[in-house]
Amino acid sequence: MTADLEAFLAESAERRLASYHELLRIPSISGLSAHAGDCRRTAEWVAADLRASGVENVDVSDTGGHPVVYGDWLHADGAPTVLVYGHYDVQPVDPLDLWKHPPFEPFVENGRMYGRGAADDKGQVHAHLRAAEALLATRGRYPVNVRYLFEGEEESGSPNLEAWLDANRERLKADVALISDTGFLQGNRPAICLSLRGNMYAQIDVTGPSVDVHSGGYGGAVQNPANALAWILAELKGRDGVVRIPGFYDEVVPLSEADRGQFASQPFDADALAAETGVPELAGEVGYTVPERRGGRPTLDVNGLWGGFQGERTKTIIPAHAHAKVSCRLVANQDPLVIFERLRAFVLQLAPDGVRVGVTLLDTARPLNTSAEEPAVQAASRAVEQAFGAAPLYQRGGGSIPVAAMVRDAMHAPVVLMGFANDDDNAHAPNESMILSNYENGIRAIVHFFDDLATTPLA
Ligand code: BES
Ligand code: MN
Ligand code: MN
Repeated sequence: MTADLEAFLAESAERRLASYHELLRIPSISGLSAHAGDCRRTAEWVAADLRASGVENVDVSDTGGHPVVYGDWLHADGAPTVLVYGHYDVQPVDPLDLWKHPPFEPFVENGRMYGRGAADDKGQVHAHLRAAEALLATRGRYPVNVRYLFEGEEESGSPNLEAWLDANRERLKADVALISDTGFLQGNRPAICLSLRGNMYAQIDVTGPSVDVHSGGYGGAVQNPANALAWILAELKGRDGVVRIPGFYDEVVPLSEADRGQFASQPFDADALAAETGVPELAGEVGYTVPERRGGRPTLDVNGLWGGFQGERTKTIIPAHAHAKVSCRLVANQDPLVIFERLRAFVLQLAPDGVRVGVTLLDTARPLNTSAEEPAVQAASRAVEQAFGAAPLYQRGGGSIPVAAMVRDAMHAPVVLMGFANDDDNAHAPNESMILSNYENGIRAIVHFFDDLATTPLA
């Protein structure tokens, strides 16, 4: 980092925070159609910010869903090109009553920025915007070529992104993709993420009588959809945490000794995690440690379950229908579409007589694995060390980022997962926050990364 750049960051500190507040104030909840206008406003806000910094060819591009913001700066002849990704959309905010401050009225307290999206992912998008501004203001150029891709549907599974990427291939011409949408380890230990899990999300619908019927008059004569659903769900995963869908593990790459050593070397406090989440004890697949289960093993979870009478006191009925949302986190080399077909076949096979059962695919994300040997990952590691004063540990992320495998497959380029969120950021939960020093040093890490890449042979 040059002294100029540090001076610029110091001089612009107040403006930067005000601008961060402004971005967080727009309620860009991608999953709620009432917020479609807010998503577009956020995209326009991000685009205007890029333009004001001097990024070129900026546009807000229609996808059929919420827009993508694209911009580039391609004047570093001979230097590599970096595709930078972040998402400007956020998760819904319910339950509202648990927020100490309203989710879209950002608030700084104890060195943290509080608000929906503060960490996931508007804070990290904003760090990129400020790195762009600082570089172009102080040097008039980037050390590498840069393309920005900020989307607005990540929290909804990026359903329109792959088609947009296909239609905009020339905008993806890059030597490396940098995704800033991950975070550090427990205790805010700097970390770089080496893998992401994939995701397969489905709904199971069980239908019985055409309306709710009297459980006295029909009990014993008509199959109960809620009972049927419970039978089906109970078969999907054992109490040992092992998924029972035939073929579910066929493509799972077993953890190597080296993998297991890496998981074991990470700081991890089970009691702290139990306390943080409020559970009596942690649980998961037998034979694996908690870090292994979270980062290196697939899962199956019921996300939601409804049907029948939910009201006050009692109502003696056989419900007409019952439903469940079921999702699986996947690891390399599991294909979400293949896993869905296996789930569907198994559910249909488990369906008892007397009901109709439907299984619908709602969402997919493919898993991603990268390597610490990758020169671009090492450049990111050096950048984080320079900015945060500690060499990052490598970790494997339990979450999913649909774009990651999309750009890997479309670009055939390495993907670097360099994100700066603190692990206790309450992402997706009430009182989301970003440690402000992570945000600030994140800006520096981004600049270091670009500077480092300018002199790092990537192949
Ligand atoms: N930033 C997260 C992904 C993440 C979380 C990566 C934790 C690594 C560790 C992202 O915004 C997210 O929440 N993704 C969704 C994707 C889903 C909707 C397909 C997820 O993981 O649930
Ligand atoms: Mn995110
Ligand atoms: Mn998220």
